[in-house]
Amino acid sequence: MELFESKFRESMSSKVALLNRITYYIVNRKGKQMRPMFVFLTAKLLNQGQVNERTYRGAAVIELIHTATLVHDDVVDDSAKRRGFFSINALWKNKIAVLVGDYLLSKGLLLSIDHGDFDLLRIISKAVREMSEGELLQIDKARRMDITEEVYYDIIRQKTATLIAACCSLGACSVKPETPDVETFRKFGELCGMAFQIKDDLFDYGSEQIGKPTGIDIKEQKMTLPLIHVLNGCTSNERKWLINSVKNHNRDKTRVKEVIAFVKQHGGLDYAVQKMISFKEEALAILETYPDSDYRSALELMVNYVVDRKK
Ligand code: IPE
Ligand code: IPE
Ligand code: MG
Ligand code: MG
Repeated sequence: MELFESKFRESMSSKVALLNRITYYIVNRKGKQMRPMFVFLTAKLLNQGQVNERTYRGAAVIELIHTATLVHDDVVDDSAKRRGFFSINALWKNKIAVLVGDYLLSKGLLLSIDHGDFDLLRIISKAVREMSEGELLQIDKARRMDITEEVYYDIIRQKTATLIAACCSLGACSVKPETPDVETFRKFGELCGMAFQIKDDLFDYGSEQIGKPTGIDIKEQKMTLPLIHVLNGCTSNERKWLINSVKNHNRDKTRVKEVIAFVKQHGGLDYAVQKMISFKEEALAILETYPDSDYRSALELMVNYVVDRKK
């Protein structure tokens, strides 16, 4: 990870002073770096602990793209906090945040192109396309009060699980190109990513300090699994009250708290936890098909961390 970090830092540099100031700010507030860890551990599991330059570059590209999407996501969600501090849009405004996100995306893609890693670039570019589609699908569907659980899963698969799927398939492809492991690990990463986003949506119903705002999904009228489940199981009067609260009183803090309490009382969080665990179990079952090793154990720890993490 140390070597990865130095490569990651290097990959962001620019001749434009303003850009350098902003990327300096970004790299000094690093996230959990789960995606590069998924890349390395998958490659190591499949190749007796050995990774190569392609693995490193792939991990750097993924983290660049992840960073770009967070910068853009905070513009889209109008969110002022990220990783415990101000978001780029909060400090430099939307115009600059949009352009910085584009810059990071292009730097990522060029890192692959300049080294001829075209097989990895294909995996990454598909993920970028799907993430954009996922964010737009969410805008299109997540405010509808009749959103189904299936549509919710489609949204989170595209906006979040795709990139974690790309981490694991890229890790596999960097050491074992054109083997069935590439697809097996894509699926594994996708399942981890589904559990990961359900956890992220559960955080929004809590009040713990996670380094970014909580309680903003209802404010933004974004329907996530706990609320979708409760809407499907309540009486028509309760349903009317919930819909009216989310549609017409989403800026009213007391009312939003009442909605959150209602969702908790009616088992919405428990249901989401149960679904999250079933995605986790499916991911672990895939790992079980590989021989035991330190790398397999480390990946098991990662999968458990996805659902047990505190931020
Ligand atoms: C946040 O991802 C974006 C989502 C897909 C929910 P992370 O929680 O991995 O973000 P950092 O990189 O650790 O800040
Ligand atoms: C995740 O979406 C970000 C992307 C997949 C681009 P959210 O909007 O739910 O994530 P946070 O909570 O802001 O990190
Ligand atoms: Mg967001
Ligand atoms: Mg968002």
